Amino acid sequence: MEGFDLPLTVSRPELIDFEGISMVHYFTDNWENLQNFQARPDDILIATYPKAGTTWVSYILDLLYFGSTAQERQTSLPIYFRVPFLETAFPGMPSGVELADKLPTTPRLIKTHLPIQLVPKSFWEQNCRVVYVARNAKDTAVSFFHFDRMNMSQPDPGDWNTFLQKFMDGKNVFGPWYDHVCGYWEKKLTYSNIHYMFFEDMAKDTGREVEHLCSFLGISAPIEERERITEAVHFDAMKQNNMTNYSNIPFLDFKISPFMRKGKVGDWKNHFTVAQNEQFDEHYKQKMKSTTLQFRTQI
Ligand code: A3P
Repeated sequence: MEGFDLPLTVSRPELIDFEGISMVHYFTDNWENLQNFQARPDDILIATYPKAGTTWVSYILDLLYFGSTAQERQTSLPIYFRVPFLETAFPGMPSGVELADKLPTTPRLIKTHLPIQLVPKSFWEQNCRVVYVARNAKDTAVSFFHFDRMNMSQPDPGDWNTFLQKFMDGKNVFGPWYDHVCGYWEKKLTYSNIHYMFFEDMAKDTGREVEHLCSFLGISAPIEERERITEAVHFDAMKQNNMTNYSNIPFLDFKISPFMRKGKVGDWKNHFTVAQNEQFDEHYKQKMKSTTLQFRTQI
């Protein structure tokens, strides 16, 4: 499977309200099968708000589990087939649920952007391990804006100012960033099998984050292997690698923006005006006033 060998049948959808969350039909069309998804106890769910570094951590986990044993997988199977995106239902291709059901690996690595209350309940019943990656709101908003510009399966983002307002109002796909990051953070209080990590920490010291992941997952990878993985998942390496740079997805328009765009902490400073920043900070303080969750917007 080299990628999607499909006609471009995806077009910009309308934003809909779905169970109180802004969504597009590509993520809700398979809802019944999705909610009935049967997780297995050794499944690993990679959960993120969009643009938090999902692909980065997916590739780290894939290499940790299968990097040294399955060479062909590394050279011929794009990351979105190795780590199915559970809620997807794009026309003309298998749904995320079908892809996950057919995964031949143990463990199965499965990706979701669903807010915590919409995650299929079998993951909790089976006490699956969950790796959650969070990224500061400002860089997430910038990354999401550029992604929506180039991704024809997303609603048109409009200009930056319009998009930023929508982001603050939670009117983009998968709903409010604030509730998403806090929902998984609070879940940690009652569910110990969540490893909560930050994009900013990965950017600062990828090797240390790989080590923490190994401890959480109970993997004893020798230092040389961890170093090899850290190198392979460097931004430049992943941008060059056709198995991780999403270059074979027909509804992503790389002429507008690449998927692997900058990979930086603090790019928001190149986008926010002083006025936007002040307004955002004020709104942020209100939205995040009752959580202990803290983010860094620069490193
Ligand atoms: P930017 O748009 O800021 O560059 P996701 O996989 O959740 O969609 O996240 C995509 C974001 O993560 C993009 O951010 C992308 O460049 C960044 N990213 C992906 N792999 C990365 C890596 N190895 N190092 C740094 N950033 C990475």
